[in-house]
Amino acid sequence: MILKVENVVKEFKFERGFFKQEAGVVRALDDVSFEVEEFSSLGIVGESGSGKTTLAKIIMELIPATSGKVVFDAERITNFRKDAQIIFQNPYNSLDPKMRIINTLSEPLLIHGIVPKKHFRDKAVELLRMVGLDESLLQRYPIEFSGGQRQRICIARALATEPKFILLDEPISSLDLTIQAEMLDLFLELKAKLKLTYIFISHNLAVIRHIADSVIVMESGKIVERGLKDAIFNSPANTYTKLLLEAARG
Ligand SMILES: Nc1ncnc2c1ncn2[C@@H]1O[C@H](COP(=O)(O)OP(=O)(O)O)[C@@H](O)[C@H]1O
Ligand SMILES: [Mg+2]
Repeated sequence: MILKVENVVKEFKFERGFFKQEAGVVRALDDVSFEVEEFSSLGIVGESGSGKTTLAKIIMELIPATSGKVVFDAERITNFRKDAQIIFQNPYNSLDPKMRIINTLSEPLLIHGIVPKKHFRDKAVELLRMVGLDESLLQRYPIEFSGGQRQRICIARALATEPKFILLDEPISSLDLTIQAEMLDLFLELKAKLKLTYIFISHNLAVIRHIADSVIVMESGKIVERGLKDAIFNSPANTYTKLLLEAARG
């Protein structure tokens, strides 16, 4: 077990109307609990608005939970900012447009003291190669790249800290269909090579089927089904899961 989510609840308050006369709360997460095994890939699937990104942000400590907690195994995750990384859906917003790729990749090397400064360039080249890019890109800016290339750079930057756990929130959903499959293969290859643990979030069951060992199905902030991938895909117990599967078959 590398990480445990315990009874996490997240409520967002909202106000409506000119005089803010209407107020209420949305419960984006409702008593969510699960564990993630080291070196596994947990797929989280659910329709838009089911609470997946809210859960991702709470796990990565980007927003607080209303109640409940997330506990990382202190023996495996010793330095949270280094050992746990996140990849977001949109690689267009994730990179600083004013930074050359070499600097984007050197920053985490410096912050976490991964290698001495004189080795930054070699390490950056190694990181680019890991994600299928080459060193000719080092001096260039994000604007010069396609969505797929930008996402590869985001992955390289995440790998720079030598993480053990990566949370991927819809990492291929904004990319062209033609490159989604090769990106999935890259995620699988990196996971095996670097002995990573993944939480992989997607609204797309075919993607989850490709990448996950076990699966959690979310609906309206609740976990409605969980289990090993084959069990979920071959004999879903929950009505909502069945509907998702049917919708995916078209
Ligand atoms: N900052 C926020 N303020 C208010 N409501 C929010 C906020 N973030 C998310 N929500 C609401 O929480 C629910 C879950 O959203 P989200 O976690 O983004 O779902 P998903 O990633 O599965 O599409 C939605 O109803 C959404 O409108
Ligand atoms: Mg989302």
